[in-house]
Amino acid sequence: MLIQLLTLLFIVIFPVFIFKIITKSSKSRKTTPPSIFPKSYPVIGSSLVVKSHREDRVQWTTQILQSSPSGTFTFNLLFGRRHIFTANPANVKHMLKTRFSNYQKGPVSYSGLFDFLGNGIFNVDGESWKFQRQVASHEFNTKSLRKFIQTVVDTELNDRLIPMFSDATVDKTVLDLQEILQRFAFDNVCKIAFGFDPACLSPSLPSAEFAEAFEDATNISSRRFRALSSLSWKIKRFFEVGSEKRLRIAVARVRDFAMKIVREKKQELADKSSLESVDLLSRFLCSGHTDENFATDIVISFILAGRDTTSAALTWFFWLLSQNPEVEKEILKEIKGKSDMPVFEEVKDMVYTHACLCETMRLYPPVPVDGKRAVDDDVLPDGTVVKKGSVVTYHPYAMGRMEMIWGSDWAEFNPERWLQRDEEGKWSFVGRSLHLSGVPGGTQDLSGEGDGVSADEKGGGWRSKAVQGGAGDGGWVPAVVYCFSDIENERWIPCQDSGQCRV
Ligand code: HEM
Repeated sequence: MLIQLLTLLFIVIFPVFIFKIITKSSKSRKTTPPSIFPKSYPVIGSSLVVKSHREDRVQWTTQILQSSPSGTFTFNLLFGRRHIFTANPANVKHMLKTRFSNYQKGPVSYSGLFDFLGNGIFNVDGESWKFQRQVASHEFNTKSLRKFIQTVVDTELNDRLIPMFSDATVDKTVLDLQEILQRFAFDNVCKIAFGFDPACLSPSLPSAEFAEAFEDATNISSRRFRALSSLSWKIKRFFEVGSEKRLRIAVARVRDFAMKIVREKKQELADKSSLESVDLLSRFLCSGHTDENFATDIVISFILAGRDTTSAALTWFFWLLSQNPEVEKEILKEIKGKSDMPVFEEVKDMVYTHACLCETMRLYPPVPVDGKRAVDDDVLPDGTVVKKGSVVTYHPYAMGRMEMIWGSDWAEFNPERWLQRDEEGKWSFVGRSLHLSGVPGGTQDLSGEGDGVSADEKGGGWRSKAVQGGAGDGGWVPAVVYCFSDIENERWIPCQDSGQCRV
């Protein structure tokens, strides 16, 4: 009898139980949108989904950082490795300034880029970096920049770029602006860094064999870092197959070109009793570093630094102007207010154009992500725990798209966010701090446990308070809560868990 009763109960209750589970799970599927944050599994972490996003990694990680309360996310990778991405300005300052020595390129980056960049400034840390940086910094003081603009850029503009644009306008020919601007940037960087004119932008548009090799070398080298393990490219390199074979050919072409510049410069220096044109390469060669391989590395890093960055910024600038005729009109107005051949001071005074360039690079930064390896354990200002050996990537592309930095209109191309008008209607720059004043994680000391107030920061019209509960193991740190205050009324407004609150 008992058995019959239990069987009956099972027959009646079991279907009801299953039905409940199914309806509950389908309901929760309907109401809970799929999380943008990747799931992490034992041993493999999130490495498979990370790999599946290798072609849109910048955009995908941007969406994740936009959804993360502190603008930081930790990816768990194979065998417990971690990769932290951050778009939090306080973290970026911490990495690049406060604890600069703790965030280095590191051995993995060094070996991945060595074939292409050797010991050039982009691939070294420590003393070699310091030396190259010191020699290079002469190039970036006001006096050198003024000379650079007045001699090199003016000539390249007036003798090559503007005539080319004028001819294209008259003949109604279509130009590949990106390619033209790459040639323009390449001529400029070679002239300023090596006192050598490759004349890439001359009217015949000479064959860009070098540029193609350089692009191949850059792309294939950066693809090495997208592999799940460095073993795959090392095996391909050993057997000289596929992309590694192409890399070897491309690097050989690039090095031949750079070596030629170095040899010609050495000859020029040997023929002269004193230095006439003091370019960067001459400075290196005269500082006792006559090794041709090292000088070649320096040349390659400089071409990489100056060519694609400048041309990418200018290409996006013109594209954005084509989409925003009102902004173009305002720039033309500013240009017309200057002389036909504006001098350095006049150019410096073109604040509206300057704001357009800033706005362009906010939305399309030429270096969208930049990773460093932590030398020691650390804690970022937003509470993210960094383990020794983890890669921490700061993300300028995501930073330009953070509502908490730029406000709800972050997607708009609006140069005026960098400007204010004075009483006479003249534009002037607003301080950059205005954009950062509402950002969580300023100079807080987040070492405290529990929910006590750690520190507060004053900036613009806002103050932020960070309250720390404890750092999460992976992903964003849910225990960090940010508050903003209305200074005049001394009110603290908790932002629940979003950190995006403005009053
Ligand atoms: C729109 C133009 C440019 C942008 C957005 C840009 C951006 C950057 C960024 C993000 C870095 C990396 C900093 C780091 O990892 O610590 C860098 C480094 C560097 N850039 Fe630029 N750059 C531009 C133009 C140039 C030009 C024209 C030159 C030289 C002719 C140049 C020379 C360098 C050098 C030498 C470094 C290495 C500095 C170091 O490691 O300390 N850059 N640049």
